[in-house]
Amino acid sequence: MATRHFLTLLDLSPVELRDIIHRAIAMKKSPLQSEEPLKNKTLAMIFEKSSTRTRVSFEVAMTQLGGASLFLSPSDTQLGRGESIEDSAKVLSRMVDVITIRTYEHAKLELFAKHSSVPVINSLTDDFHPCQLLADMQTFFEHRGDIAGHRVAWVGDGHNMCQSYINAAMQFDFELVVACPEGFEPDQYLLDRCADRVTVVRNPAEAVKGASLVATDVWASMGHEEERKIRLQKFSGFQVTRELMSYARPDALFMHCLPAHRGEEVAADVLDAADSVVWDEAENRLHAQKALLEFLCAQG
Ligand code: CP
Ligand code: NVA
Repeated sequence: MATRHFLTLLDLSPVELRDIIHRAIAMKKSPLQSEEPLKNKTLAMIFEKSSTRTRVSFEVAMTQLGGASLFLSPSDTQLGRGESIEDSAKVLSRMVDVITIRTYEHAKLELFAKHSSVPVINSLTDDFHPCQLLADMQTFFEHRGDIAGHRVAWVGDGHNMCQSYINAAMQFDFELVVACPEGFEPDQYLLDRCADRVTVVRNPAEAVKGASLVATDVWASMGHEEERKIRLQKFSGFQVTRELMSYARPDALFMHCLPAHRGEEVAADVLDAADSVVWDEAENRLHAQKALLEFLCAQG
C-alpha cells in the first residue's frame, strides 16, 4: 500500500477527516489509552521556522500515545549543512515511523515526502497549515456541531492559513468568504478550483455578514518580516474588531491560529471575548494531531 502523507487537507477524504475529528474529540475525553497505540514508534520533527503550539502538541501527543519524538533543528543536523532533502528523507525514514516538517517552500515538503517511506505531516509551509485546520474544525464541531452548510469569513492575509481554509471549505462542505486587500489574495489556482464555494471581497463587513465563524491570522507571517511595515499600512481596515463581529451571526465564533498581535489583525477585546475560542483551538492541536498520528501510523 502506498505511504499516506498529510501535506494538505486534500490528502485525506472528507470521511477520513471527519473520522479524525470525531476520534480527536473522543481522545480529548480520555487522553491516555491503556493500549498505547504508538508504543515504540518515533516521530522526527524537522522545524526550519519557530513554533510553540505545533512543536509542543506533537511532542506531548507522542508521549501520550506511548511513543517518542525527536526535535531536529536544521542548524544541528546535516540538512542545515547541505545534505540533500532526498537523502535525508531516505535515511530518516529507515529509522523513524513518522516525520513532521515545518519549512518555507511547500515543494520542499513534497520532495521530502516523495522520498520518504514513512508518513510525512505538514507542520506549516508557506502555502498550507493543515494540522491547524484539523484543530479549528474540531473546535467548531465541539461548540456548534458540524460545519457543513455554514458560512465562514476569513479576514486578512490570503496566505497559508487562508489557503488551508479554502481546502477545508471543499473537504468540510462550507461557504468561505475571504476579505483581503488587493495584492494579498490566495493563490488563483485554489480560487478557481473552489469557485463554487469561495469568494474574495474587499470589504470585511461584507465577508462577515451572516458568518458562523470569523477567522484571521497575523498580517506578516514568518518569512514576511521585512514587509511588516508596508503590510501594516495595506491591512489597515482589516482588523477584526467588536464592530466587525457585530455583522456576523449573533452566535458567531472567533478563531485565530495564534500567535496573535493584539491591536493589529485582531482587537484585544475580540481575542479575549466569550465568543473567542482561540484557547480551545490551541489545545485541540494536541488532540487532533494524536488522532492524525494514530490514523497515519495504522495505514502501513
Ligand atoms: N498555530 C501555530 O502553528 O502556532 P506555532 O507557530 O506556535 O506552532
Ligand atoms: N501565517 C502564520 C501562521 C503561524 C502559525 C505564519 O506562517 O507565520
